[in-house]
Amino acid sequence: MKTSTLISTVLALIATLSAAAATPGQPVALITGANRGIGLALSTVLAEQGWRVLATCRDPEHADELKALAVRHPAVALERLDVTDTAALDALAAKYRGQPIDLLINNAGILGDPQAQQLGNFDQKTFEDVMRVNTYAPLRVSQAFLDNLAASRQKKIVTLTSRAGSLAAAVEAHDNYFYRMSKAASNMSMRLLQNEVRARGVIVALISPGPVDTQMNREWRHGAPPPASLLAPLQSATAVVKLIGLLTPEMAAHALNYDGEELPW
Ligand SMILES: NC(=O)c1ccc[n+]([C@@H]2O[C@H](COP(=O)([O-])OP(=O)(O)OC[C@H]3O[C@@H](n4cnc5c(N)ncnc54)[C@H](OP(=O)(O)O)[C@@H]3O)[C@@H](O)[C@H]2O)c1
Repeated sequence: MKTSTLISTVLALIATLSAAAATPGQPVALITGANRGIGLALSTVLAEQGWRVLATCRDPEHADELKALAVRHPAVALERLDVTDTAALDALAAKYRGQPIDLLINNAGILGDPQAQQLGNFDQKTFEDVMRVNTYAPLRVSQAFLDNLAASRQKKIVTLTSRAGSLAAAVEAHDNYFYRMSKAASNMSMRLLQNEVRARGVIVALISPGPVDTQMNREWRHGAPPPASLLAPLQSATAVVKLIGLLTPEMAAHALNYDGEELPW
């Protein structure tokens, strides 16, 4: 085994072993797609604010930045989760059964190949993949951890939405059909979920992180130069976490921009 691989394995082991249960009063967040981009930034901001973070990702062994975060903040626990793997999801939910989770952030998402979602090129497999990750998974993950959320103090489900999913904002758009559709459908699914879990005191929020400098955003731009309005992941995550702290039942199931502005449907 190479030295770098050995060090990385030992760090992962330390991160797993040191992931003790939350201390009394410590809020707990579960985040999907926590290994890079906005998910990593959200995990970082929450960990720095003293949260216990159940940071889930598809490949913890290679999540070097997340592992480094867990070494800096022992209250960060790495968990393996492909959000489309329902057996793995249910196994993870069983592992945490009975433990309150204050905040679930449905962050994991894919853009899908832009070429495969253009008129003349529509590809069914790409459509199914995008809908499975961006629309079905947030709903299914929310279902899996609903009892943990209802048993917590803060009781918040946050699903990352996008201006790209807004009908009103898409007046002239003709790109990334599947991604845009997946976010619009996800908005609807979260509104329905909100109606159903309101009685349990759970707030379901839709928050757009804004235009953020991540791999997904680079794929969207096809290598075009980044616009000046692009946010750094930590900048966006700091604003999103602040907004999460301000959420009220009245703000539930409205699509909100990271700065609190309401996005048009
Ligand atoms: N960036 C923006 O400008 C922007 C704007 C509006 C909304 N958003 C939303 O913000 C969220 C995060 O996007 P991002 O920009 O941070 O994208 P990103 O850098 O491409 O990261 C996507 C994350 O999702 C994970 N993921 C993808 N498929 C997964 C699966 N099946 N199971 C578990 N994790 C999976 C990826 O994990 P792997 O490393 O394993 O692939 C990665 O951690 C998405 O929901 C996106 O739609 C982003």
